[in-house]
Amino acid sequence: METSWLAPSILSADFSRLGDEIRNVLEAGGDIIHFDVMDNHYVPNLTFGPMVLKSIRNYGITSIIDVHLMVSPVDDLIVQFSDAGADFITIHPESTNHLHRSLNLIKSCGCKVGLGINPATSLNILEYVMDQLDIILLMSVNPGFSGQNFIPSTFKKLLQVRKLIDNSHKNVLLEVDGGINLDNLKEIASFGVNIFVVGSAIFKAKNYKKIINDMRHKLN
Ligand code: DX5
Ligand code: ZN
Repeated sequence: METSWLAPSILSADFSRLGDEIRNVLEAGGDIIHFDVMDNHYVPNLTFGPMVLKSIRNYGITSIIDVHLMVSPVDDLIVQFSDAGADFITIHPESTNHLHRSLNLIKSCGCKVGLGINPATSLNILEYVMDQLDIILLMSVNPGFSGQNFIPSTFKKLLQVRKLIDNSHKNVLLEVDGGINLDNLKEIASFGVNIFVVGSAIFKAKNYKKIINDMRHKLN
């Protein structure tokens, strides 16, 4: 069975009740938790650091935590997030001077290795790093904020990335992040996406179970 996971992004959660929000969205059927780390430098917004992840683990959350690092420099935080309990770590090529080394660092920490591609970033970068990757995260909005609209040119890139992954004969997961909702989920899924990051569309819904069930039906 192909992986097809809904990854609620806690960027849109109520931070004053973060542990409960995560527990609730997992009980409602979320598969993994997407954890958006922003530094007000690589992106114009500021969120949470490794201490917050550590306290989520201490609270008893055992699900896969998919850490999306939108920070520069990134290497120190790769190690800190791994120590805090990350399972997947995705970084952006623009956030490091030595991408190959940073990707190796994620692997040496024992985490799954992800590369995030922004809307205006070329896919050429994949040519020399594909062998290092477990996940390609295609940004369908410019990173920094939840609640933005899905950028339509992502579809063309999705097609290209899917082909690159298939031709590599490697088990690389294709993840899409930004602007995903009930209306566009089915079309996005038709490109063979494995992980769907959903922030505002889940957390703005009153009933997490209902919205996640409705989304799951679109995937089946
Ligand atoms: C944006 C983040 C996303 C964001 C998605 O920089 O990487 O994960 O939380 O939020 P929505 O689903 O509201 O676009
Ligand atoms: Zn993200």
